[in-house]
Amino acid sequence: QELNLKLEMLEKGGYDHFMLKEIYEQPRSVRDCLRGRIYPNEGRVQLGGISEFAHKLKNVDRIIIVACGTSWHAGLVGEYLIEEYSRIPVEVEYASEFRYRNPIITEKDVVIAISQSGETADTMAAIEMAKEKGATIFGVCNVVGASIPRLTHAGAYTHAGPEIGVASTKAFTAQVTVLTLIAFHLAQQKGTLTSSKLTELLTELDNIPQKIEKALQSEGLIKEISAKFKDSRNCLFLGRGSGFPVALEGALKLKEISYIHAEGYPAAEMKHGPIALIDEEMPVVVIATKNSSYEKVISNIQEVKARKGIVLAIVTEGDTEVRKMADYCIEIPDASEAFLPLLATIPLQLLSYHIAVMRGCNVDQPRNLAKSVTVE
Ligand code: G6P
Repeated sequence: QELNLKLEMLEKGGYDHFMLKEIYEQPRSVRDCLRGRIYPNEGRVQLGGISEFAHKLKNVDRIIIVACGTSWHAGLVGEYLIEEYSRIPVEVEYASEFRYRNPIITEKDVVIAISQSGETADTMAAIEMAKEKGATIFGVCNVVGASIPRLTHAGAYTHAGPEIGVASTKAFTAQVTVLTLIAFHLAQQKGTLTSSKLTELLTELDNIPQKIEKALQSEGLIKEISAKFKDSRNCLFLGRGSGFPVALEGALKLKEISYIHAEGYPAAEMKHGPIALIDEEMPVVVIATKNSSYEKVISNIQEVKARKGIVLAIVTEGDTEVRKMADYCIEIPDASEAFLPLLATIPLQLLSYHIAVMRGCNVDQPRNLAKSVTVE
């Protein structure tokens, strides 16, 4: 028994939980995911698995992304990035809906299936169906040699290493990293990004692991804020642009491990429903970093404050505007909009973690959830 306990401590690398260990592994896991794939000086992305399909991808009419859970959120980030940089239309589908709703799929389609475990039953069934209809299937998986990588025509591993905590953390950021690479690769193929712009973006991407490291340094502050939020019954997460999938993922993390009811919303949709819930007891987490939707997000914060909601804003380092309005601010390093999801996700992971720990929840193995869902 004692030996088992010691072994577990060793496996957790000195952290109290696997989830925390995995959160802290992200500078390394994102770095591993980028290794050998980006050449900033040459403005070039090299993704082994994709090269064989370079021609097909260049001429593809649309990409369909299928996934479940956190992987589906990574897919949404992928949609924003691929459309922005390569101008190829993307649809993101829950695998469970896609497989049963008789979707239109042809040989011209490319399906990207995202799965940490590579074993999710609905995602596998969606792949099989699309394959039968002649689509080309590309996998983005973490577990090497799992069922999904064996079902796909090609793919790119996320190289995040084993993820033990049921709530996905480092696998998510690695998925987002691979999708960012796919977006840049497609842009390079299609010529929608100049090589100097690509050089600029890849140089910045190369530096993201250090910025994640920096974002992790807010843990002390996040712990203090968690103590204020830990007894909340509900929590709203708002974001715009690629801050929206980040909000969805932040809400999912919180509900998964702390059992606090949480919802992610596009900030502008708040007035079509969730605004009715806002009162002096409602915490509202807002992704309010300095990017193209900054001003608009500021007005959303004002709307929340006018109804006495409690605002926790994720802001860009040095921000003064949002600080005047929000009750709490957590800073993340400045970065181009493309990399916002990789940074803004970090404080939200730590927030859910600390709230869950303070509520006495089983962080690594939340009730009713499984790491991989192999039944439908
Ligand atoms: C389960 C896990 C989630 C995961 C989802 C999809 O619900 O608890 O963390 O995001 O399945 O799993 P996959 O392995 O396909 O990414």
